[in-house]
Amino acid sequence: MTAAAPPERLVLRRPDDWHVHLRDGALLQAVVGATARVFARAIVMPNLSPPITTVEDARAYRSRILAALPDGCGFTPLLTHYLRDDSDPREIARGFAEGVFTACKLYPAHATTNAAAGVREITSLTPVLETMERIGMPLLLHGEVTDAEVDIFDREAVFIERHLRPLLARHPGLKVVFEHITTAEAVAFVRQGGPRLAATITPHHLRINRNAMFNGGFRPDFYCLPVAKRERHRLALRAAATSGEPCFFLGTDSAPHPRSAKEAACGCAGIFNAPFALESYALTFEEEGALDRLESFASVHGPRFYGLPENTGTIILRREDHLVPSRLHLNDAAGRAVEVVPFHAGELLPWRLAPAPPDGEAS
Ligand code: NCD
Ligand code: ZN
Repeated sequence: MTAAAPPERLVLRRPDDWHVHLRDGALLQAVVGATARVFARAIVMPNLSPPITTVEDARAYRSRILAALPDGCGFTPLLTHYLRDDSDPREIARGFAEGVFTACKLYPAHATTNAAAGVREITSLTPVLETMERIGMPLLLHGEVTDAEVDIFDREAVFIERHLRPLLARHPGLKVVFEHITTAEAVAFVRQGGPRLAATITPHHLRINRNAMFNGGFRPDFYCLPVAKRERHRLALRAAATSGEPCFFLGTDSAPHPRSAKEAACGCAGIFNAPFALESYALTFEEEGALDRLESFASVHGPRFYGLPENTGTIILRREDHLVPSRLHLNDAAGRAVEVVPFHAGELLPWRLAPAPPDGEAS
């Protein structure tokens, strides 16, 4: 018997990105199209400067995102509230009821980019979390401790035992997404957490381990938070993402920074993967012999967790080698070029997004 020929094209229900940084101002204009060309919806992170905390902030930010969209891409941004120790449960509940906030994001103070105003003491959020539990609003976690004495490669695993396990026990009805997981410990923890606990997995954590940052010199384009871990963790993430388990779904954590901000004495954390994110996941799923599970990871598990309908449109990936540019010169709102290095820079990718047919025409 001969093995079936590998497919030449994939037709997928249109996917969503359950974790993305679209930025604001000039950079927003430059990057939003890369997400909107493929994803129907995205959970947009609130770590702007200043962060998105009020319903009015979120409404205004949503309008700026919609105004920056290229014509005709039918994209819906889903906004999030940036939690602080003094967040007001009434403001959060109002934003959720009015369809402005989809979820709340918890950044431990100083954990990552624009997280200085984040949460210092998680237990100070108890009234907020009780409200979210009551109204069914998901909590999205940047799951890393920030204590300087904890090794940076251990910060996610320590967060689970020190904060996440107790938080879930205090709030047994709260829906929680452990964002951009990077460790075997997180995979195992999410698996046993029942239907109210899920995790997003990025394209880059499926492809790089921590060696990528130090390959022949320091490589800031592979520096992100949480930082990539050892190879055994990458393998655990690949097994989880491609397993078909509903608790794992797509969240790119695409986090663009201008090249000058990455190549600096104190360079920013973040990988800009939006231009080729789905193509990157497709490559990983194919390598794992799991192309038939890509659609559930990208387009089904996320809406199911959030209690939202699945998208009705489709997208097509064609098998076609194409070279990812080593630099992108994106035009910002003022017509200036912003230089950003995309994930997979200089690599050949075997899958390429084709324009989607109108609804109902996919075969
Ligand atoms: C993100 C950013 O730049 O906003 N950076 C990153 O490395 N992922 C913040 C975050 O998600 O941690
Ligand atoms: Zn992020």
